[in-house]
Amino acid sequence: MNKEKLIIFDTTLRDGEQSPGASMTRDEKVRIARALEVMKVDIIEAGFPIASNGDFEAVKAVAEIVKDCTVCALARAIKGDIERAGEAIKPANSGRIHTFLATSPIHMKEKLRMSADEVVEAAVKSVAMARRYTDNVEFSPEDAGRSEPDFLCRIIEAVIAEGATTINIPDTVGYNIPHQFGALIKDLIERVPNSDQAIFSVHCHNDLGLAVSNSLSAVLHGARQVECTVNGLGERAGNASLEEIVMAVRTRQDVFPCDTTLDATQIMNCSKLVAGITGFNVQPNKAIVGANAFAHESGIHQDGVLKARETYEIMRAEDVGWSSNKLVLGKHSGRNAFKTRMLELNIEFSSEEELNEVFARFKTLADKKHDIFDEDLQALVTESALETENESIKLVALRVCCETGETPNATMILNINGEEQQAEATGDGPVDACFKAIEKLTNTGVNLQLYSVNAITTGTDSQGEVTVRVEKDGRIVNGQGADTDIVIASAKSYINALNKITSRSGRTHPQLESL
Ligand code: KIV
Ligand code: ZN
Repeated sequence: MNKEKLIIFDTTLRDGEQSPGASMTRDEKVRIARALEVMKVDIIEAGFPIASNGDFEAVKAVAEIVKDCTVCALARAIKGDIERAGEAIKPANSGRIHTFLATSPIHMKEKLRMSADEVVEAAVKSVAMARRYTDNVEFSPEDAGRSEPDFLCRIIEAVIAEGATTINIPDTVGYNIPHQFGALIKDLIERVPNSDQAIFSVHCHNDLGLAVSNSLSAVLHGARQVECTVNGLGERAGNASLEEIVMAVRTRQDVFPCDTTLDATQIMNCSKLVAGITGFNVQPNKAIVGANAFAHESGIHQDGVLKARETYEIMRAEDVGWSSNKLVLGKHSGRNAFKTRMLELNIEFSSEEELNEVFARFKTLADKKHDIFDEDLQALVTESALETENESIKLVALRVCCETGETPNATMILNINGEEQQAEATGDGPVDACFKAIEKLTNTGVNLQLYSVNAITTGTDSQGEVTVRVEKDGRIVNGQGADTDIVIASAKSYINALNKITSRSGRTHPQLESL
């Protein structure tokens, strides 16, 4: 039997980015967009172009680079927003404008201060305006989950008549309950006279932990697009998690009348990339992508899995991209073996120069670390992308002294705008001493908001991957660094963040800009 298609609309780069502290630079968005394209999501919502020049440039860059997905830009139901969104998606092979306006009584009265008639008029006008840029227009009645169904029917009918091709029903505040949200979708599809002329979509937030359940209930009641994010990243408690939606639908094909065309083997790759760039680590017991998602600890389970894996496993780890920490390359591997393995990991180099540069990093790592795994190779590329961004500050040398009962001391040499400078500092620990020495040399005055260390693979010889988040004057950026020495990885991540904040390639959190 031919199943209907369930469209996967990924909003990691837009709603995901609205998590405080998860803001991404243009280059980071492009890297994630490439990975989403390889994973074969259908639509990438790349940003909110009116929010800042940085976001406009990011959406435009994604629209220029991505070829196989539709690239979508968000716009309020306002002329300036729609013009900016239209401009940003112009280079796309397939571009969509997503315009939204609140429809719940509380939002209309308290936030918009608009009557119901004014809201319908503005929504219709904005859809008509968006249609001048593309025939692929999505309309969202914001806070639909708390809106009057009769009013939703009225506004949806009007925007479809004006040319909206997707109607997205958001549970903006994560208030809905699965059976009730499913019933709402069914009711809207049945009662809106021209509902057959649009795809119905859902966009659920996770305030009550129900975003995935609500989305799946909606799918069972006729929704054919789900808006979701990698790792469930998003405002407050996050959005529906892409990997959970896709794997629930795929694993329970006996229940769902539709399926996605997503390449699930890319899920882990995207999950790690998003976690690394945003600094939002995945909890170990998170479904599908958590470190323990496929680990069987209890003896009874282990025994069962060894006899027949289906006794306790409903999915295969390799089907969502978990590799078994395969030893892939070593010190003696040549350039060709390296390039071939990178291609197998969907990592392409834009030039011979870039390949040579990452290969040289691989050789340096292989000298320090005996076993090189896929995760190490991915981290090499992250490192190289970070350093080619805008580096006015470079780490030249670092010496740290730690001794029981003594205050840790760091001596740091940085190259700042081409000039080598040295400073010494003490701190509560070796990392604290390092950061203080860096601050002495750079005087950036940033506030450190997050410091997190993760082992890239297993074992004490693993590379440590450090993420820091720093803030200055309302601008927040993340920095990353990886090394077998976690103090050096920490210094690299802090320097990476400072390079971003001083070069202004990071951007203000969308909500901090005066919209
Ligand atoms: O949560 C929400 O309502 C949104 C809309 C812009 C769709 O993110
Ligand atoms: Zn949202």
